[in-house]
Amino acid sequence: NTSGFIFDLDGVIVDTAKYHYLAWKKLANELGFEFTHEQNELFKGVSRKKCLEILLDIGGINATQEQFDVWMVEKNEDYLRYIEEMDASEILPDVPKVLQFLKEHNVPVALGSASKNARPILEKVGLLHYFDSIVDGNNVTKAKPDPEVFLLAAEKLNVLPKNCIVFEDAVAGIQAANIANMVSIGIGDENVLSEADFNFNDFTEINLGFIQELAKLNGE
Ligand code: G6P
Ligand code: MG
Repeated sequence: NTSGFIFDLDGVIVDTAKYHYLAWKKLANELGFEFTHEQNELFKGVSRKKCLEILLDIGGINATQEQFDVWMVEKNEDYLRYIEEMDASEILPDVPKVLQFLKEHNVPVALGSASKNARPILEKVGLLHYFDSIVDGNNVTKAKPDPEVFLLAAEKLNVLPKNCIVFEDAVAGIQAANIANMVSIGIGDENVLSEADFNFNDFTEINLGFIQELAKLNGE
């Protein structure tokens, strides 16, 4: 009856939202319209395909399937150029502290992300070894707020959903964790992530006693 910890990637472990934004903005500009930071909020936790659908909607653009696919590839190639430059300095503050603590206490840890680039990003920043299991955009068909990604992560960790703790920066991600009957921890603005069981601005606000408590609470 042990507990498992599940981490979202973008916006929780690394701040890749800014690179997604730059790549989408470039595409929008090429297509002749603006793409703002506010609009980028809607893209958090949302699959690449769904993001492009929303973007084209914003620009009032009708695309053929062929054009759509070309733009999907173009956006990802631009995004990958940013990712290429990433290193450990882009890990969000105190994330390694928490991962290290969980590893030392043999608590199972999984990634639960919508990104198809999750594995190379974790490799780039040197955090891949902390994860017992990776569930990402290559493994799931249903996007958050559907709980599929987290339920699959729980299954892979061999931990009951009710004993899982999820860290998320996206509203859809918190909803997915809640639907999965997991403990949801919002990382970011508590007014935005008001549905979360607990809220923190970032990991510097989370002390290891709390992590231990969560692990124990669910494990005993
Ligand atoms: C995460 C991000 C989204 C992104 C999605 C797909 O959920 O928060 O903004 O669209 O992953 O990422 P990918 O790397 O597969 O394009
Ligand atoms: Mg996220």
